[in-house]
Amino acid sequence: MIYLDNAATSRPKPPEVLQAMNDFMNDVCANSGRSGHHLAIQASRVVYETRESIAHLFNISNPLQIIFTMNATESLNLALHGILKPGDHVITSSMEHNSVMRPLRFLESCGVELTVVKCSQDGFLDAHDIENFIKENTKMVAINHGSNVIGSLAPIREIGNITRKHGVLFLLDTAQTAGALPIDMNDMKIDLLAFTGHKSLCGPPGIGGLCIREDIKIKPLKQGGTGSRSEEEYQPELMPDVYESGTLNLVGIAGLGAGVRYIMNDGVENIRVREVKLTQRMIDGLREIPGVDVYGHPDANLRVGVISFNTENISPSKVGLILDEDYDIMCRVGLHCAPIAHKTIGTFPDGTVRFGLGTFTTQQEVNAAVDAVKELSRQSKNK
Ligand SMILES: Cc1ncc(COP(=O)(O)O)c(C=O)c1O
Repeated sequence: MIYLDNAATSRPKPPEVLQAMNDFMNDVCANSGRSGHHLAIQASRVVYETRESIAHLFNISNPLQIIFTMNATESLNLALHGILKPGDHVITSSMEHNSVMRPLRFLESCGVELTVVKCSQDGFLDAHDIENFIKENTKMVAINHGSNVIGSLAPIREIGNITRKHGVLFLLDTAQTAGALPIDMNDMKIDLLAFTGHKSLCGPPGIGGLCIREDIKIKPLKQGGTGSRSEEEYQPELMPDVYESGTLNLVGIAGLGAGVRYIMNDGVENIRVREVKLTQRMIDGLREIPGVDVYGHPDANLRVGVISFNTENISPSKVGLILDEDYDIMCRVGLHCAPIAHKTIGTFPDGTVRFGLGTFTTQQEVNAAVDAVKELSRQSKNK
C-alpha cells in the first residue's frame, strides 16, 4: 500500500503518538483542571506539556497563549467570528481553503467588507497586492501558509512586516505547513496562528489549536465550565480558559504532544530538506509523462509536498479509482474543499488528482506513484 493522502491527514502516526494516547487512557484518564486529586493533576500536566512543546515549535514565549480546539477549521472560525465586526475590512487570497473562505463569505453577508486578492496561476500571492488593498478600516489579513491544492507558499515574512506596519492583524492558516517547515510566530510577525494536529504535526484527528499573540482580544465562540473561577456565572477572562470551555480532547492532546516532540526530535529543518527532495522528484517525474499536466511552480523549494496533476483523457476521479484499485495507491481527487484555488489555477470544476507527501513517504513510493501514472496514462492512449 502507498499512502499519498497526507495532505488530508498524515499516516502512519509515529509509534510514540500511539503510545502516548494509550498511556493517557490507561494510566491517567482523568479530567484536567477540574478535580485536585493526583490523576487530575497528571492530566493537567499532559495538557501543559503539549502547550509547551507547541510553544517551542512556533517560538511562543507564553504557552498559555496557545488554546486547543478540534481542528484548524474551529481555530479559524474563532479568530474570524471572534474579531471581525460589520464595517471591518478583511483581506484574503484566491488560494484559500473553505475553512477560511466560508466563514469570510458568511461574515461578508453580515456586513464585513471582504477583499479577495488574486494569486498567480501558480498559486503565488504578491505581498504588495495585499499592501495596496489595506485601508482605514482593514482589520485583518487572513491567508493560508501553504496551499492544500498545489502547495504554493505565501510570502509570510513580507506580509507580517506589512500588517505590523499598518497595525492590521495577521491570521495564518498553517494546516498544510505546521510541522513541515519552520515557523516562528514572533519573527514572522504572525498575530494569530491556526494549526491542525492531524497532518504534519503527526497527531490524531480531532485536535488543533490557535496561538494568539498576547494582548489580542477575541470574542469566545462558546461559554461554559472551565474548572476555574467556578463561583462566577460569567466566563472567566483567564488564558487559555476563556476559549476552552468544556472537557478538552485530552487523549488527542496527549497524542499531539508526542507528535510535536517526535518532529522536533527529527528536526523540522531535516523534515523540510527530505520533503523538498521528494517533492522535486515527484514534480519532475510527473512532468516528464506525455499528456500529464502538473500544476504549480516546478521548483519544490517554493512549495510544500502537495502535488496536483491531471492526465489527458481520464477524469481525476477515474485516475483516483484506478490508482486505488489497480495500484493500491491512495490519493485525493476533486476540489479539495478549495474551489477558489481551483478557479485560480484553472481546474474548476473537475479539480485535480492530488498526491500529498508526508514525513514517512519514501523515494520508492514516489517512484512507484510516478510509474503508476505513467502506465495508466499510456494505457488510456492505447484505448
Ligand atoms: C489549507 C487548509 N486549511 C484548513 C484546513 C482544515 O483543517 P481541518 O480539517 O483540520 O480543520 C485544511 C484541511 O485540509 C487545509 O488544507
